[in-house]
Amino acid sequence: MAVFVTRRIPAEGLRVLSQAGGCLVQQWDSEEPVPRAELLAGVAGKRGLLCLLSDRIDREVLEAAGPDLKVISTMSVGFDHLALDEIKKRGIRVGYTPDVLTDATAELSVALLLAACRRLPEAVEQVKNGGWTTWKPLWMCGYGLSDSTVGIIGLGRIGQAVARRLKPFGVKKFLYSGSRPRPESAAEFDAEFVPLARLAEESDFVMVTCALTPATQGMCNKDFFSRMKKTSVFVNTSRGAVVNQEDMYDALAHGQIAAAGLDVTTPEPLPTDHPLLSLKNCVILPHIGSATYATRSTMAVLAATNLLSGLRGEPMPHELLL
Ligand code: NDP
Ligand code: DGY
Repeated sequence: MAVFVTRRIPAEGLRVLSQAGGCLVQQWDSEEPVPRAELLAGVAGKRGLLCLLSDRIDREVLEAAGPDLKVISTMSVGFDHLALDEIKKRGIRVGYTPDVLTDATAELSVALLLAACRRLPEAVEQVKNGGWTTWKPLWMCGYGLSDSTVGIIGLGRIGQAVARRLKPFGVKKFLYSGSRPRPESAAEFDAEFVPLARLAEESDFVMVTCALTPATQGMCNKDFFSRMKKTSVFVNTSRGAVVNQEDMYDALAHGQIAAAGLDVTTPEPLPTDHPLLSLKNCVILPHIGSATYATRSTMAVLAATNLLSGLRGEPMPHELLL
């Protein structure tokens, strides 16, 4: 069972593969992404592929792999980097890593929300650069969660985990949007299903936790931001492409919304001279939602176990049903 692993991953995950009888592992053993040519060469003739969200697995890769490729396992819950129609056509099974990163990502989403609404990076900078001269009643004020309305775009695993963490802050009302109402998920928060436009208009805090799909791509656009309150804060921990970044920049730069916190951008990494980085009211993190040691280790083990199970023709712990 020849497999290609596209990056250096936590050792626990690689151990699952190397200790499995009959598994021949070839790995791009680097912290940096595998160059496209190395990916195309590495996957050739392989039966299994363990990849990351930064690897675009499209028709070119599948053709380079050839007919032996039976299983793709991604070390991520997001699967927008996989050409699922092409994969399905070839009868290839897909594994992914839901649940195990939900807590870490929800925790980071809350951290990012607080950093943006209470202006933490700006305040830290003031301490360092001498801007902190005395305690001033009108200085460094932001927005708090008490009595607020929080709108969650995509009340899935992470969206619910975010709501669960925000509720004790004194949130008055939760709204959510999605492709249809999810009363069983909403009950715990007494959350109301609303159209996207109403969510934008009524929320003090917007949390984007949906999957990137053709329907969600560019969903947070000029119209969306123009409906938000001037005092509202926007947080995205899903995928950068859910947001029209130029429209968001305009909204932030012209005071149409108060602040934004982004863990995901387009592209990734964001160039260091990108206009968004010049805004004081925009906090940007380098896609670290799931980045706790324990979570990344568990993700690697799950991705490896999905791969092995698929190669053995057994049920995977987490298979994406195509
Ligand atoms: P889930 O599948 O549990 O949730 C996805 C949500 O997207 C569902 O609630 C779904 O709601 C919603 N959704 C789908 N279509 C729409 C739509 N048109 N409008 C609004 N919502 C929609 O996935 P997870 O919660 O586990 O993960 C969500 C995403 O978070 C991942 O796909 C990934 O991109 C991202 N992620 C980012 C991380 C980071 O490091 N920043 C870490 C982990 C995940 P419904 O079905 O009701 O439409
Ligand atoms: C995912 O899993 O989709 C995240 O973006 C990274 O953990």
